[in-house]
Order: sequence, then C-alpha cells, then structure tokens
Amino acid sequence: MSISESQLEFEALLDYLKQNCSYDLSGYKEGTLVRRVQYRMQQLEIENYGNYLQYLQNNSDECVSLFNTILINYSGFFRDSDSWDYLANQIIPQIITRKQSDKKIRVWSAGCASGQEVYTLLMLLAEALGIEQCLQRVQVFATDIDEDALAEARQASYSDKEVANIPSDLLSKYFEQTQQRYVFDSKLRRTIIFGVHDLTNNAPMSKIDLVVCRNVLIYFKPQTQEKTLVRFHFGLCDNGFLFLGNSEGLTNNKYIFTPVSLKHRIFAKGQNLTLQDHLLLAPRTDTKKAVNPLTTQIQMWKAAFLASPLAQLAVDRSGRLLLANEQANTLFNLNISHIGAQVEDLEIARLINPSTFINQLDRDRAKPSAVRRSRTAGSDNSHSSLGPKHIEWVTDNHTTYLNIYTTLISDESGKALGTNLTFIDVTRNILLEDEIERLNSALVKVTQELKETKEVLHTTTQQFDSTQKELESVHQEMQFRINL
Ligand SMILES: C[S@@+](CC[C@H](N)C(=O)[O-])C[C@H]1O[C@@H](n2cnc3c(N)ncnc32)[C@H](O)[C@@H]1O
Repeated sequence: MSISESQLEFEALLDYLKQNCSYDLSGYKEGTLVRRVQYRMQQLEIENYGNYLQYLQNNSDECVSLFNTILINYSGFFRDSDSWDYLANQIIPQIITRKQSDKKIRVWSAGCASGQEVYTLLMLLAEALGIEQCLQRVQVFATDIDEDALAEARQASYSDKEVANIPSDLLSKYFEQTQQRYVFDSKLRRTIIFGVHDLTNNAPMSKIDLVVCRNVLIYFKPQTQEKTLVRFHFGLCDNGFLFLGNSEGLTNNKYIFTPVSLKHRIFAKGQNLTLQDHLLLAPRTDTKKAVNPLTTQIQMWKAAFLASPLAQLAVDRSGRLLLANEQANTLFNLNISHIGAQVEDLEIARLINPSTFINQLDRDRAKPSAVRRSRTAGSDNSHSSLGPKHIEWVTDNHTTYLNIYTTLISDESGKALGTNLTFIDVTRNILLEDEIERLNSALVKVTQELKETKEVLHTTTQQFDSTQKELESVHQEMQFRINL
C-alpha cells in the first residue's frame, strides 16, 4: 500500500472517530496519534488502518479502548518536585495575600488524569492556609477529557508505589491507609469539582487564580496549543498564574503571559488579548472552498465589532449573549465562558433587559419608513436608537455611567434576530456636569453673600453718615456754648 493510500485510510479512521464516537482528534499532533493508533493495532494484531476501521465498526467498545490508548494518562504526585516547591514557596503565598479573605481562591487542574496533580495542589494549599481555611476559602476544578481517568481521580485511592513520592509527613496528614491503599482526605476532597472537559473545544472555567495544566499541551498541535493558551488567558483573573509541564512552552502567544520562572514553567497573565487572539477561537473556515462574500462580510463585521474602542455586546432574540468585545469583557467582567449564557443569568442583567430592547426596536421598526433611518443595500438590516441614559454600573471599586445605544439586527426578510448594544462611558461628562452644578450653586451662594454684604455696607454707611451728622451738630452746639 502506498504512503498516500495509508494516509487516506488514517484520515478516514479519524473521520469515523469524529462522526461516530464524538472524538475530535484534529487538534492532536499527528505523530503521536499515529504511534498510539499503531500501538493499539499491534495489541490486536491488526496490520492496516482499513482493517482496524472495520474492527472499530464491528466492536462498539473499541472506540473507548483506542481513546484510552491515545490519551496517555500517566501522572504522579509531586512530579518535578522542584517546580512544585517553587509553586509552594513563591506563587501560592502571593495568591493568598492578594485575595480578599471573603473571596474564594479558585484553582484549576486541567488534564488532571487520575488525580495525583490536583491532590498535590490541594495539599500545598492546605499547608499554606491550614486545613480549616482551605476548606472555607478554596474552590478547585479538576477536569479531563477522559471519563475513566476522572472516575479514578474521584476515588482518590492510590497504591504504595503511587504514593512513594509524597513526603511522609504529608502522606500521614492527608491520606488514610486502608488495606494497602492510601485514600486522600475526604473532607478536603469536597472542595474539588470534577468534570469532563475538552481543552481543545470547551470554554474555560472563569475567574481562576491558578491554572495547572501539565503534560497535556505537549500532545496538541501548535495551533491547538495557542487556542488553549488563549482560553486559559480568558479563564484567569488579572493576577492569575499558569503552571505548565517541564517540557512545555508558550508557542506564539508569548506576550499574553509573562514568565515568572521559565525553569519551572510558571507564567503570570500578561497583556490583553488582541483581535487576532479572539479570531483564533472563531470557528475555522475552510480555505479550500470558494470565498463566500457573505462570510467575508460577517467576518469583517465581527472584526470591527471586536476591535471597537466602545464596549459592545450582541444578544440574540431569546436573550442569549452571542458576542462581547474586549472592552465589554473588561467593563462587565465577562469571559468566553459567558458566551451563550442567558443575559438574565449574568451580572449585566442589572443594566439591560434585552427582551425589552428587542420589543421596543421591533415596535420602532414597524413605524413608517419615512421616520426611520435610510438603509443601504445588502446587509444593513439594522435599526439603531439611543436606549437608557446615564445608567450607573457599580463594581467593587468603581462607578461608571453609561449611555446605551441599541441596534436591532434583522435578517433579509426583516425578522428581528437580536440586538447589538453599544455602551458609551459618560462618567466624565456626568462628573463635569456635577462639577458645573456645584460651581453654579457656589456662585449663587457667593452672589447672595455679596448682596447681603453690600446691604450691610449700605446700612453701615448710612449709620456712619447719621453719626457723623450727629457729631457735627454736637460740635456746633459745643462751639455755640463756648462762644457764649
Ligand atoms: C500525561 S497526562 C498528564 C496528567 C497530569 N496533568 C500530570 O502532569 O501529571 C495527560 C492528560 O491529559 C488528558 N487530555 C488529553 N487531551 C485532553 C483534552 N483535549 N482535554 C482535556 N484533557 C485532555 C488525558 O486524558 C490525560 O489524562
């Protein structure tokens, strides 16, 4: 069989896995995939991909076995112990001191395999905070694409050999020994939320202080690594850290993270994402296909929307958040995990009620065309108006005043699809107006005081005049008496 035939059969195999088993392996390095599939074929003594595809079609359990072979679940406690020491001594104390005591410390072990990584992390947090504080203040997410690995992680039960790397004081403090097994502390385990999560496709967790993702990116193609890093950037809070495996780096997205220790692969969240980063997460368009002008138009609209200096949100007819640009993310503390959520479930519901806007715009749109803005041909199926003004948006340490412009988005037939909301920060204007008002009332007060002072002065002058006259007459009278 020629190389290209074999390549085609391999692609057909990947396609079958995607269509029938919901395993999209397109983000994984091809070399790794080929080696792992061939390893599985050797175990079954199958010689070529075509026969293996047939075997997959005839044996419904084989998808899971192949997937388990591809996802190398190898893990260990305190793997690269120097790096964990660095994390414990340099990073965890910073996370704790920066966090207000009433706010949860949120950490995420992404690609946690059978749990050794997340329990290592939890032991270090408990050592730094004390067990009681750790129970109260820490929220841990432990995710993996592999359900079997997650089931093991939830069990938290390890053999002698597996716990050999745990320092003995921590082993006796955090594990209970039962019949040759060591089981991690059940109370602390309750701080962990385990879940299936595909780093190549799913939205990240949000407001995370530390992402630990070790020895996972190494299996991904560079572009998938880049996308995953952008998602981590979205998921981290502003002071957040990222901890990678010892043989992993940052690919092209160097600037969105700043190295804290290159040796230990620990990075701090860096600059804001660029439009390019946002577009990286946008669904890929097939470059082989002819360019559809509508797609280009939509992409241009999306690019303009994302790059706008004004905060913008797009909400669909049913009130779901479709898009938010970087300005809106910063203003409203949104991230990619909020995309697709109902606006009424988000904090911005304090500000906007999309169904009211859409109904209002629908009503406006129904008015005779003469009273509406003229339209250009093609895609301008929109109608804009100024919504609420001077709306107050209060966050922990800031108050912003906003004017909201709404634009109805409708399809070619005129049916309303949703609304585009633009937020104009008018805080400076409001502050200036307040200042002018304050100065005006001060001016009125000073004018009044001046008037009163003038009146007092006038009365005093009059009194002075009359006193002077009295004095003159006394003087004349005295003169008169002297002359007598
Ligand atoms: C080599 S293990 C690393 C385990 C652990 N992080 C450590 O360093 O000890 C790689 C893990 O990544 C998981 N993984 C592979 N692809 C993934 C994906 N797309 N999303 C989430 N996890 C994935 C595998 O299931 C496996 O458990």
